[in-house]
Amino acid sequence: MGGALGQVIAIANQKGGVGKTTTAINLGGALAAMGHRVLCIDLDPQGNLTVGLGIDLNSVERGMAQVMIDPDVPLASVIRQTKTKDLDVAPTTIELSAAEVELMTAIGREMALRDKLVPDLIERYSHIVIDCPPTLGLLTLNALVAADGVIIPVQTQYYALKGVAALLKIIKTVQTRLNPRLAVLGLLPTFYDSRTILGRDMLDSLRDLGDHQIFRTVIRQSVKIGEAPTAGVPITVYDARSDAAKSFMDLAKEVASAR
Ligand SMILES: Nc1ncnc2c1ncn2[C@@H]1O[C@H](COP(=O)(O)OP(=O)(O)OP(=O)(O)O)[C@@H](O)[C@H]1O
Ligand SMILES: [Mg+2]
Repeated sequence: MGGALGQVIAIANQKGGVGKTTTAINLGGALAAMGHRVLCIDLDPQGNLTVGLGIDLNSVERGMAQVMIDPDVPLASVIRQTKTKDLDVAPTTIELSAAEVELMTAIGREMALRDKLVPDLIERYSHIVIDCPPTLGLLTLNALVAADGVIIPVQTQYYALKGVAALLKIIKTVQTRLNPRLAVLGLLPTFYDSRTILGRDMLDSLRDLGDHQIFRTVIRQSVKIGEAPTAGVPITVYDARSDAAKSFMDLAKEVASAR
């Protein structure tokens, strides 16, 4: 525990389809491309991060479901290498959904993930990135309790700021009661399309949302970002020269310099 600022990063937003998993995979990939050792943790029962990093869900016998509910299953025991150098993954299966229900009656249920981030494991990685499900339930709460920093992807195609305000409120409660270390690293504009008025408007209203940092990096809409997961690699490997890869490298630099 007590890692450096931004060593353990949760990617959270209870709104679905805003680019959480994409951010987790590609920020992880970009940090790895910079030479950091990175672990991505899939805390969403949908398993999109697991699949997007090239792991066959049918091959996952033990994953985050077992880690979250069984005190005898260390996080290290489920970690796999991915096809990408310096990028490991703690995979999940749909069983994580039942595990979340089971967790509800457990003592210290908000601490289950934090308890698994033992010093031995933390020391192996310079960054640990946690992908959250699109809910504000116990899994997201566990991620926020385990993290030093949270990144909130926000779709700039829709007015979704109401949801962000609710999330920021929960983060504040977590900071006060459970994890004073937690810092909001920033809101990350995603699906940006500069050709639309709404996209530009949304960027402006994000900047008006209060005193929270907005990343300088903006993730634009890009076909390649949607394609890379089907190859099981981050965009920095799928097409290192693409604008999308460059954007995630920029984001990784912002994140790494926040430490
Ligand atoms: N910048 C982008 N340009 C184009 N497609 C994108 C972009 N970002 C994400 N996508 C695609 O949009 C879909 C939703 O993105 P993603 O899975 O990252 O969102 P999410 O917030 O993790 O969703 P969920 O809430 O279901 O977990 C995916 O198919 C992804 O490949
Ligand atoms: Mg997702």
